[in-house]
Amino acid sequence: MKHLISPQDLSVAELEAVLTLAEEIAAAPDRFSDCCRGKKIATLFYEPSTRTRLSFEAAMLNLGGSVLGFSSADSSSAAKGESVADTIRVVSSYADICAMRHPKEGAPYVASLHSSIPIINAGDGGHNHPTQTLTDLLTIKSLKGRLSHLTIGCCGDLKFGRTVHSLINAMSRYEGIRFVFISPEELRIPTYLREETLDANQIEYKEVRTLEEVMPSLDILYMTRVQKERFFNEEDYIRLKDSFILNNEKMKYAKPDMLVLHPLPRVNEIATEVDEDPRAVYFKQAQLGVYVRMALIMTLLGAERPNGN
Ligand code: CP
Repeated sequence: MKHLISPQDLSVAELEAVLTLAEEIAAAPDRFSDCCRGKKIATLFYEPSTRTRLSFEAAMLNLGGSVLGFSSADSSSAAKGESVADTIRVVSSYADICAMRHPKEGAPYVASLHSSIPIINAGDGGHNHPTQTLTDLLTIKSLKGRLSHLTIGCCGDLKFGRTVHSLINAMSRYEGIRFVFISPEELRIPTYLREETLDANQIEYKEVRTLEEVMPSLDILYMTRVQKERFFNEEDYIRLKDSFILNNEKMKYAKPDMLVLHPLPRVNEIATEVDEDPRAVYFKQAQLGVYVRMALIMTLLGAERPNGN
């Protein structure tokens, strides 16, 4: 049995296989409508979500399976003090696979130690969000045609931003990847990522303080929200929240084929005027999240492909 707790839990070959299956599903989703008939996914969300929870549920429903779960800690027995370990022991006998989001780093990993069904980390605190990364990689592969030889700008909250952390971990395994990190000093990427992932793999990167100075060099601009819920101090949040706002004026300096990604939700870091720019692909990205989660569920459950494949 395999769990997906961090992007490195999938080898590059396994990752490519999931992306290839996701592309097949995207081309003809109806063909996969019976692949998980009779199977159930538990979505245990201890923290708010729109895309991740609903796309996991849509994915399982699209595969012919069923869904159960909770969308907040308050509506589960966590509110009475039940541990993640006890919860997953019980849920293992109700469902075949589980997607878990939790505000504490490592909670889905703890669940995996006590689970008899595959656990998918659907976001743990400021740590990792591997299925967002699968979504991001599918978006880049589908629209750029490659996952190598790209200059990727990551902008916003790089300290607490789990989507950026997972993206760095996953993309650092591809050839010719360069990163440009655009953040205020207080929200720089964590030291452990610089040392253990970027330096250890000799990945080229630079850190800058303005978007304008690097826009012309980017193939991908990965925007992120400054996350109010990760700050201990509201004053710091208010001071930093509007640090980087992408608008049409800044887009003028970007390559004609640069892609703007964002895991969403957006607050105000991308002006809505940018939505009309064909390079803004964040809503397409959210749509692709369903197909990649269908592929992941099939892979972790060992589901047969439809006849004819
Ligand atoms: N991208 C993402 O994780 O969105 P949600 O918080 O809405 O799930």
